[in-house]
Amino acid sequence: MMMRSGKAMLNVGVALTLALTTACSGGQEENTSGTPTGDTGAAQPAVAGQASSAPAADDTTTLTGVTLAEFTPDAAAGESAFVQCQTCHAVEPGVNRIGPSVHGIVGREAGTVPDYNYTPANANSGIVWTPEKLFQYLENPQRVIPGTKMAFGGITDPQQRANLIAWLETQS
Ligand code: HEC
Repeated sequence: MMMRSGKAMLNVGVALTLALTTACSGGQEENTSGTPTGDTGAAQPAVAGQASSAPAADDTTTLTGVTLAEFTPDAAAGESAFVQCQTCHAVEPGVNRIGPSVHGIVGREAGTVPDYNYTPANANSGIVWTPEKLFQYLENPQRVIPGTKMAFGGITDPQQRANLIAWLETQS
C-alpha cells in the first residue's frame, strides 16, 4: 500500500517537474531573447556613443592630427563649400530644413535652435561650436556625435573646412 501511493506520488512529481521545466524553459527563452534585444536597443547608442568612441566635448583633436590654426582661411571660398550643406541647412535665422538653421552657429551651444527636433545625441552633446570644434566635427560628424541624424560623411580637405567655418562666422 505504502509503496503504491509512493509510486503514484513520484509519477505526479515527475509530471509536475516536466511541466515546470517546460514552462520555465519556455519562459527563459522569452526572457533571454527579449531582454538583450531591449537592452541593446535602449542602452547601446547612448553608452557606446557617449562613453567609448566620442571625443570629449572640449576635445578638438582631428583624425589626421591637423589643427585649424595651421590654415589661412578664405571665407569667400567657404561660401561655395556651403553648397554641400544647403540641402539641409539654411544660414537665415529661424529657417530649419532637414537640419537646424546654422545662423550664428560659430560660438553657439549645440542643440539650441528653437523649434528644431534634435536627436538626444546632438542635444546632449555638451558641445560649444567653437571654430576648432566645428573643424573637428565637419571632418567626420558621426565620430564627434555618435548617433547624430546628420547624414553627411564629412569634408576631408582641412583647407575647405577652414574656409567654410570662416564663412559661417560671417553669417551671424
Ligand atoms: C543630409 C542633410 C545634412 C547635410 C548635407 C548637412 N547637415 Fe548638418 N545637420 C543635419 C541634421 C539633420 C542635423 C541635426 C542632427 C541631430 O539632431 O542629430 C545637423 C546638425 C548640424 C550641426 C549641429 C547644429 C546644432 O545646433 O547643434 C552643425 C554645426 C551642422 N549640422 C553643420 C553642417 C555643415 C556645416 C554642413 C555642410 C558641410 C552640414 N551640416 C551638412 C543635416 C545635414
